[in-house]
Amino acid sequence: MKVLIVGSGGREHAIAWAVARSPKVDKIYCAPGNAGISEYAECVSIGAMEFDRLAEFAEEKGIDLTIIGMDDPLVGGIVDVFESKGLRVFGPRKNAAILEGSKAFSKELMQKYGIPTAGYKTVHSAEEAREALKTTSFPVVLKADGLALGKGVLICNTPEEAEAGVVEIMEDKKFGSAGDQMVIEEFMTGREVSVLSFCDGKTIRPMTSAQDHKRAGDGDTGLNTGGMGTFSPSPFYTEEVDAFCREHIYQKTVDAMRAEGRPFVGIIFFGLMITADGPKVLEYNCRFGDPEAQVVIPRMKNDMIEVMEACVDGKLDEVELSFEDNACVCVVLASEGYPVSYQKGYPIRGLENFKGCDDKFVFHAGTKFDAEGNYVTNGGRVLGVTAKGKTLVEARANAYKATELVQFDNKYMRHDIGKAIDEA
Ligand code: AMP
Ligand code: GLY
Repeated sequence: MKVLIVGSGGREHAIAWAVARSPKVDKIYCAPGNAGISEYAECVSIGAMEFDRLAEFAEEKGIDLTIIGMDDPLVGGIVDVFESKGLRVFGPRKNAAILEGSKAFSKELMQKYGIPTAGYKTVHSAEEAREALKTTSFPVVLKADGLALGKGVLICNTPEEAEAGVVEIMEDKKFGSAGDQMVIEEFMTGREVSVLSFCDGKTIRPMTSAQDHKRAGDGDTGLNTGGMGTFSPSPFYTEEVDAFCREHIYQKTVDAMRAEGRPFVGIIFFGLMITADGPKVLEYNCRFGDPEAQVVIPRMKNDMIEVMEACVDGKLDEVELSFEDNACVCVVLASEGYPVSYQKGYPIRGLENFKGCDDKFVFHAGTKFDAEGNYVTNGGRVLGVTAKGKTLVEARANAYKATELVQFDNKYMRHDIGKAIDEA
């Protein structure tokens, strides 16, 4: 089988790693990919938003399955373009990817179908927002409706902060048309957990849980980033929480999307808050998390291709997922200064230490080859150093030990990934 993966980050590297292990696959392409991914896949320089070029490439090479890793192309309708040409593709169509693409849509869906989430109001203008904010309690959460690189969510502690947020999102249009509508949401407290799941439009199979660390600095300080590290499983995701989510959140979401004429095929990522009143949905995403994928995928025992094909064929009910009874921690090595400004192009040393290992991995997020064919840094997030262990504590120790094996000049990381484990 020939597989094409669309994307270029650590998530796509983890997907490529899993696809390469499938006995069904004999050739992998990745567009555009990165230096690390090229170990498993032939990287082709077509951008993830160039739908027609990607579909032409898939036709020309006789690709049997295309896997879309990223949110932007999914929300933009890449799956519809592939399907219109008769190409097999794993991911939700545009009318289902809206689950991530519009927060107003997802909140309305949850309200309509009784899926637990924070109270909210959707507003369409700054005046409407100001009116609504007169009667809210603080803190309050403001969310730009559309995709905003994970930066469109503002937690405002005072009316003054909320006013500044309204100006930023709805008047100054800092996130562009993503701010045409805005969700004003009740602030929730509790533990955050991410659960990724495979869906075929009717059946849903949740994967093992994970937790991300979104802030740049130790102790959850500093700016929001794409994610500085993850661990899996989450000790806060108990059997009781799992049972509740299966009954009140997961299947209900899939059924709701189907009832709306938007069957969801692909990955639903549930961002959950375990509050004192029980688990509630913080957000939905329509693809694997990054860097959640880097700790969930290495623990999955199934053949990734078999599961994805079952989704595309509507036969997920015939598949049971199984995960190793262990733990995994990913520590992101970033460029000093991320997420604001940083230097790129530094040589990376020590990657050979991970060659052939099946208990530690280095998933590339932002790397490329220089003119001499050496690995150099090429992004804010550079590498995701990932290690397994029998327990979370052991996996964390192994991951931090493994971070010492790789060096580049402006290497930056958080030192407290998985600290919450000690509180469990
Ligand atoms: P989202 O993109 O909706 O997941 O929001 C990004 C982050 O903002 C989440 O991971 C939470 O840490 C935080 N957040 C979002 N919504 C809420 C809420 N209603 N209450 C508290 N924190 C929230
Ligand atoms: N790690 C969060 C995300 O992928 O959205």
